Amino acid sequence: MTDGALDYDLTDLDLFEGGFPDEVFTTLRRRAPVWWHPPTPHTPDGVGFWVLSRHADLLAVVADAGTFSSEGAPGAEGGGTLIADLPVGFAAGVLLNMMDDPRHHQIRRLVTPAVAPRALAAMEGELRSRTTAILDAVAGRGRCDFLLEVAVELPLQATAILLGVPPGDRHDLMAWTNATLDFGDRELGDQSLDADAAAAELHRYGTAICRARRADGGEGLLATVATATVEGPDGTEPLSDLELLMFFNLLIVAGSETTRNAIALGLAALIERPDQLAALRHDPGLLPLATEEILRWSSPTLYNRRTATGDTEVAGQVIRAGDKVTLWWASANRDEAVFDDPFRFDVTRTPNNHLAFGYRSHFCLGANLARLEIRIMLEELLARFEDFALEGPIERFRTNKHAGVKHMPVSFRPRA
Ligand code: HEM
Repeated sequence: MTDGALDYDLTDLDLFEGGFPDEVFTTLRRRAPVWWHPPTPHTPDGVGFWVLSRHADLLAVVADAGTFSSEGAPGAEGGGTLIADLPVGFAAGVLLNMMDDPRHHQIRRLVTPAVAPRALAAMEGELRSRTTAILDAVAGRGRCDFLLEVAVELPLQATAILLGVPPGDRHDLMAWTNATLDFGDRELGDQSLDADAAAAELHRYGTAICRARRADGGEGLLATVATATVEGPDGTEPLSDLELLMFFNLLIVAGSETTRNAIALGLAALIERPDQLAALRHDPGLLPLATEEILRWSSPTLYNRRTATGDTEVAGQVIRAGDKVTLWWASANRDEAVFDDPFRFDVTRTPNNHLAFGYRSHFCLGANLARLEIRIMLEELLARFEDFALEGPIERFRTNKHAGVKHMPVSFRPRA
C-alpha cells in the first residue's frame, strides 16, 4: 500500500488545537495503519517515527515489551515514551512508566496493593467529601470554569491522598503542581506564582518528603516505595533517591493531567447529548458503563511511544532496531473494527474494550482510582445539579500528548 500522498505532521501542535484530529487518524487506520512519519521542522530530535493507529496493532506491540521497549534501544542515549528522546538514566530507565522489566515488574509489584479494590474502597468516603467540598465552592454561583474549579481539583486531592501527602501540605502541593503542569501563572489566577519558581518548590518539597518517608516510613504509597527493597545489580537494595523522587513526580503528573480531562470532557459529552444525560439520570446503574465510555470518548492520553530493540515486523511492515514506534490510544479507541459506530457517545456501550489506560505490563497503575473519581464526580454532579449548559467553547492546550482542556465554562442549577 502506498502512503505517498499522506503528508500529515503529527508534531505540528496546530493540528491538535481543536482536539484530536479524528479525520487524520481515520485515514491512517484505513490507508496506512503502520505509517512512517518523516521528520518535519517540528519533529523532536529530527528523526522520523512509526505511527500505529489500529487497536489490534497496539495490542500486539504492547504485548511484546521485550521487542518494544519503554526505556529505549540498547546502547542509545535517549529513550522513553514521548516522541522526543529523554535521557537514559535520568528519565528513561528511572521513571516507572519508562522502565523495562525486570526492575519495572518488581516496583510494580510493590505498589499494586495500594490501588487494589480494597484500598480504594477505603478512600471512597474521603474522595466523596472532597468532591462535595469542591462542588460546594461553586454551587452558589451557578456557573464556573469547570476545568479549573472542579475537574483539576479532585485528581490532585486523590493523588495526594494515595501518596500519603499530609493534609496540611496539600494546598501548596496543588498550587505548585498546577503552576508547573500547564497552566502557567496567568492561567491560575495567582499572579505571584511563577512556573519556574513553582517547579523549584515542587522539587524541594518532593525531595524533602521522599527523605522523610525514607527515614520514618509512615502512611501512603510513597512510604511503601521509600522503605521497600528490590533486586538490583548489587543485590537487594532500596530504590535510588532519584527513582523515588521521580516516582513522586510521576504520580502527581500522571494522576492529575489525565483524570481532569476525562472528567471535563465526560461532562461536555453528556451536556451535548441530553438523551445520554437523561438515560444516566434515569438509571444510575449505568454509571460504570458510562465511566468506561467517558474514558474511551475522552482518551486523555493520546499516545505513548516505544523503541524497537531489534528488527521486527508489525502488520507486514518492517521496523528496524532503534526505530521510535508511537501507539495512538486515542485512534484505537475510534477503531471501526472494534467499536460499533465509534463516533457515537453511548453510555450503554458494552463491550467497551477501550485502550485509554494502555494495556498489559504498563497498564495504568491509577486506572481504578481514576474510574472511582469519575464515578463519584458524576454521582455528585447529577445529585446536586440540573440544566447543565456549556457557556462557551472548550479551550484547549496545544499538545499532541494529552486531551488538554484549558478552560470549560459551564452553567448549572441546583436541583429542587
Ligand atoms: C483517566 C485517567 C488516566 C488515564 C487516561 C491514564 C492513562 C495511562 C496510560 C495510557 C498508561 C500507559 C502508558 C504506557 O503504556 O506507556 C498509564 C500508565 C500509568 N499511569 Fe495512568 N492514566 C490515568 C490516571 C492515572 C492516575 C490517577 C494515576 C496515579 C495516581 C496514574 C498513574 C500511572 C502510572 C504510575 C503509570 C505507569 C505504569 C507502569 O508503567 O507500569 N494514572 N496511564
